[in-house]
Amino acid sequence: MSTEEILQEVALEVSTCSKCNLCKGRKRAVPGEGNPNARVLFIGEGPGYHEDQQGRPFVGPAGQFLDELLASINLKRSDVFITNVVKCRPPSNRDPLPEEITACNDYLDRQIAALKPQVIVTLGRFSMAKFFGNAKISAIHGRAQKKDGYICIAMYHPAAGLHQASLKNVIREDFKKIPLVIAEAERMKATAPKEAGTSAPKEEPPQQLSLF
Ligand code: URA
Ligand code: SF4
Repeated sequence: MSTEEILQEVALEVSTCSKCNLCKGRKRAVPGEGNPNARVLFIGEGPGYHEDQQGRPFVGPAGQFLDELLASINLKRSDVFITNVVKCRPPSNRDPLPEEITACNDYLDRQIAALKPQVIVTLGRFSMAKFFGNAKISAIHGRAQKKDGYICIAMYHPAAGLHQASLKNVIREDFKKIPLVIAEAERMKATAPKEAGTSAPKEEPPQQLSLF
């Protein structure tokens, strides 16, 4: 199956999923959307009111800020893929529960495996925890690290920037690193040794990104 077909299959399953209690309060499930060839995948927390109404990720106030952040690095929504840790809105926008995240995790894993993004940007602490365990966002935000075979960068959630003015600029500065990390990922791919058996020189790919 092509990337697009896998993403469509996941979206179809999500639209009628009842694997956790969040299915009860939702108007629409929000599987995520974007470019099947995206180099960058953004993973948020879960749908809010507007997302639940429209069935699309990041279309409320946090989404407007995300659009601004994307534009600041010359990216459009149609260049990237955007999804969430849970695909259905938690009641009153409460935090997703561990069992809800676990129930929904397979959809996210299938999206990641299909997209094979060069860079994964986690937005907020729930998607951060998937890759960075219980690291503190204040300590690791904006730094690229290789996790589960992907180059990941943890960022504050855009909604945090709306509530706390001082974080807004931190998020803006962190976003500016994304093009550099994409360029670094491209360079690593270009210089990576070819498959075993070819005459390419054997060199261990760097675990620590040289840029950061
Ligand atoms: N916040 C999120 O984490 N995800 C959305 O899709 C919208 C707001
Ligand atoms: Fe299914 Fe995920 Fe929605 Fe729970 S949050 S009902 S697991 S799609």
